[in-house]
Amino acid sequence: MGTVTLINNETGQSFDFDLIDCTRGPKAVNFSKLFENAGIFSYDPGYGSTAGCESTISYIDGKKGELLYRGIPIEQLVEKYKFTDICQFLISDSLPKNDEESKKFDLELRHRSFLHEKLKRVFDVFPDNAHSMATLSAIVSVLATLYANHKDMDDEDDYQTMARRIIAKTPTMVAFCYRNSVGAPFIEPDVSKSYVENFFYMLRGYPHSRWKYGLDGEQEITPLEIEALDKILTLHADHGQNASTTTVRNVASTGVHPYAAISSGINALWGPAHGGANEKVLAQLHEIGDVKNVDKFIERAKDKNDSFRLMGFGHRVYKSYDPRAKTLKKLKDELDKKGIRMDAHLSEIAQKVEEVALSDSYFLERGLYPNVDFYSGIILTALKIPRELFTPIFVMGRMPGWCAQLIEHDKNPYARITRPRQVYLGK
Ligand code: ACO
Repeated sequence: MGTVTLINNETGQSFDFDLIDCTRGPKAVNFSKLFENAGIFSYDPGYGSTAGCESTISYIDGKKGELLYRGIPIEQLVEKYKFTDICQFLISDSLPKNDEESKKFDLELRHRSFLHEKLKRVFDVFPDNAHSMATLSAIVSVLATLYANHKDMDDEDDYQTMARRIIAKTPTMVAFCYRNSVGAPFIEPDVSKSYVENFFYMLRGYPHSRWKYGLDGEQEITPLEIEALDKILTLHADHGQNASTTTVRNVASTGVHPYAAISSGINALWGPAHGGANEKVLAQLHEIGDVKNVDKFIERAKDKNDSFRLMGFGHRVYKSYDPRAKTLKKLKDELDKKGIRMDAHLSEIAQKVEEVALSDSYFLERGLYPNVDFYSGIILTALKIPRELFTPIFVMGRMPGWCAQLIEHDKNPYARITRPRQVYLGK
């Protein structure tokens, strides 16, 4: 095993620390005994050089622009598997071996998709137009009160149940958050429908309608729409120790109910620097308004005296093209050709923003490329999904990842409560 020697130039003392061989990517220095042995601690705001856990779930190569779920590139998974297969893969570390296994898991999710009657009444307290992320986080917290036996969850099976239950209920909760915010009646899940079709149905449906989804047939759910949203969810399923996943792990480290930890993750995801960027990207494309204004906005993004940032650009880990953005861009063009019409005006502005930014030294030198949020909003709009649901849809996609991370955290005998130090500069 390699080591790293740290020399304190103030005292002349030196300390050796073990290097950890990661199965992929650079080595890590084990600094867990830094304070105990050397009496000093590390300072790393934003944790850009710090790992808080060991994980086997997803791997990102920021230079190559590569993302793997349990060792398999996302481009392969998105082509070959349904989102529910990916959920099973992430939480149990095994892809369905055959169609029967895939259907069994899918069926279990359909049957678990209903919400407790008491939970449905909680929606009443939220005001009209409440943002669905705020409602969703609160509703997930309430979920913890309905399945409160988490202290009995000593074995893996109970965490599996916890994961399957919340994955199954998330589309229902998201659809209900939206319908509640616009005063529309809830549409109960339909067990004859698949995971994604059910979500569209609960979002667009009319209760007891003789017409399937809408009065004029316009709201019909097409297989192409289902396939598109399914792929979008898969692309969002896990992504290393990002801000919301770290939040889920940190909160879980206190021993709290897993749904309380997930509720905190939802709040962390809401921010515009993280999952909330998908909603902001679309607002920004509208604000730019015309391809002729793109140069002006790019100049603003570069101006350090202007707080304007190009939304959907930049990433802590990717310093080249985010592979999820690449896949989404391809999906957008394919869907457009197959008949799901993208907003041509917005697509043109987005394309121009990308072209101008990627030929500008400011963006190239800083490794600022389109991230997952840059194209997802244009596709979701073409799928007739309201803008305020873009981030809740990110939650639907990320739920299996959060659950897998919680299961991994729970199994780790060395996991400790998260308790960083501070560089104290006060009186
Ligand atoms: N527009 C303009 N400049 C940017 C942008 C941007 N979108 N992103 C980063 N920069 C610049 C910074 O000003 C900084 O410049 P400097 O070195 O001259 O000071 C440099 O690039 C590095 O930026 P940091 O903020 O230090 O990078 P960090 O890794 O902390 O932040 C983040 C990453 C939050 C994603 C950032 O790029 C950003 O705000 N992007 C826009 C919001 C966004 O799209 N978020 C979604 C990310 S993907 C996800 O979470 C699902």
